[in-house]
Amino acid sequence: MCGIFGVLGSEPAAPRLLDALKRLEYRGYDSAGITTLDESGRLGRRRAAGKLRNLEKALDAEPLSGTTGIGHTRWATHGAPTVNNAHPHIAGRVAVVHNGIIENYRTLRDELMARGVKPESDTDTELVAHLVEAALAAGLSPKEAIGATLGKLQGAYALAILIEGEQDLIAAARAGSPLAIGLGEEGTYLGSDAIALAPFSDRLIYMEEGDWALLSRGGVEIFDEAGEPVERAIVATPVSISMAEKGNYRHFMAKEIHEQPEVLGHTFGHYLDLAQESLRFGAAEGIDFANATRMTIAACGTAYYAGLVARYWFERVAGLPIDIDVASEFRYREAPLTPGQPALFVSQSGETADTLASLRYCRAGGQKIASIVNVASSTIARESDVVLPTLAGPEIGVASTKAFTCQLAVLAALAVHAAHARGRLSEDEVREHVGILAEAPGYVADALRLEAGIERVARDLSHASNALYLGRGTNLPLALEGALKLKEISYIHAEGYAAGELKHGPIALIDEDMPVIVIAPHDAVFEKVASNIQEVAARGGRIILITDERGAEEVGTQSAETIVMPTVPPMIAPIAYAVPLQLLSYHAAVFAGTDVDQPRNLAKSVTVE
Ligand code: AGP
Repeated sequence: MCGIFGVLGSEPAAPRLLDALKRLEYRGYDSAGITTLDESGRLGRRRAAGKLRNLEKALDAEPLSGTTGIGHTRWATHGAPTVNNAHPHIAGRVAVVHNGIIENYRTLRDELMARGVKPESDTDTELVAHLVEAALAAGLSPKEAIGATLGKLQGAYALAILIEGEQDLIAAARAGSPLAIGLGEEGTYLGSDAIALAPFSDRLIYMEEGDWALLSRGGVEIFDEAGEPVERAIVATPVSISMAEKGNYRHFMAKEIHEQPEVLGHTFGHYLDLAQESLRFGAAEGIDFANATRMTIAACGTAYYAGLVARYWFERVAGLPIDIDVASEFRYREAPLTPGQPALFVSQSGETADTLASLRYCRAGGQKIASIVNVASSTIARESDVVLPTLAGPEIGVASTKAFTCQLAVLAALAVHAAHARGRLSEDEVREHVGILAEAPGYVADALRLEAGIERVARDLSHASNALYLGRGTNLPLALEGALKLKEISYIHAEGYAAGELKHGPIALIDEDMPVIVIAPHDAVFEKVASNIQEVAARGGRIILITDERGAEEVGTQSAETIVMPTVPPMIAPIAYAVPLQLLSYHAAVFAGTDVDQPRNLAKSVTVE
């Protein structure tokens, strides 16, 4: 997802823009650029394809002066990731950076070309600069020109705009892509998220859908879609500078894997009252679990796998049928909906386009909307009736780790809450479950202590071309998640599969070159998985077994490698067993030499379809 930053300060803008863009790298990008207004108000621009170091070289070679500027990291949607398509785009006196998609850009492009405009790039963004330039040329003031241009745009966008000669002005607009304004001691800032703004400002204004704004060093004027002035709350930033730094870790992903005991403690602490051994779900009072007949769950990627785990919990513990689907399918499936029933959306960023579209489908169907998000100010949170935050802190690594286990934490507690509301669990049984869930951070810490052995296993795994992950029950979504982790950061093809499905086809893949990672705590389905392990071993498959003491005793001899986990209660297993899967993929990627925190082609949050 693209990143935007703007600064109206008293220090040189270029180095600050570069620093802010580095903090936005985690969102995923393939080119970058900045524009400043120099002392005489002239626009200057440097752009580069590839990583920010290329932009840094361009700036070293030809520095830019001025204390006003905007910058952008681009994740290509329209047009290849070339310098020519990199933002900022300039037309006449106007420079624009943009996150999102202008859906009517073909119509706008045709209209502008009919008036003699010759676009230099393949992007929709450049057209915005031409529209503002044309409005200024027609005699409109900057504010009028911005307002008139926004009225012509359809689609999802966050925009930052500079105008030559206007050194104390940055125009901003938000429609579908988040944008926040930072009020600093010596300046005013604009950023795609709180992480970029953290070093400059601890007072933020989150722009609402349809808002546009004129920023100056003295403050900001905000207008709604109709152009009426509006007031927006000034809130304290949720991000400290240290939260958005790697600290002593080589990668953000490693830091975030190791933060899990702490952030799981924060998340469980938000929903469990350990003193009373009860649950704290006041926020969820809006969901009528007692009378619910079915709950919809929609999410993408890792968040979807968290939902898949939760289906077992809601159906077993709460007796609540679940209809779960990947959001990109659910939004077009035309699923029949019963008004008033609950619909739950899981999203780390709270900005994923398909998940948001699924939420809006269920809203239109009269359902009660709940969301589990890691960014409280996100669009999905804003459009939910009930918001259940994960308290994972900023997740910078593109591969989701701590957010996943915190999602599972909220879902597990919510399933117990739903079970109690539906009369399926007594007060005593709730207390027992609260006690079990409260131990999860400790089990995760125990799992982290296995890292050295897991790293050794990962070294061999890093040479594989393919891998198969097997699991049953709640370990099946873990198998899917483990496969996703491996493929998305080490680029090794991996597939998660139901262990019971092996003999229905995939067993044909088994040979000594196919590592088979089996997730098998000694639980109610262990004996079945043990049979699957024998089937693989009998065909010379190389098994990496992730199990506990008892499992290792019973089938450890069949595996080439065995990772022996602490013995954990069944409801904790998906949370604890996520750790070896995360570490396995992390170290395999490190050995493979890939870009662990920013894997190729990936964005941290997919805000486009
Ligand atoms: C997770 O490792 C992936 N980076 C990706 O699948 C992610 O989980 C998915 O894009 C959903 O993102 P969200 O949780 O922000 O909605």
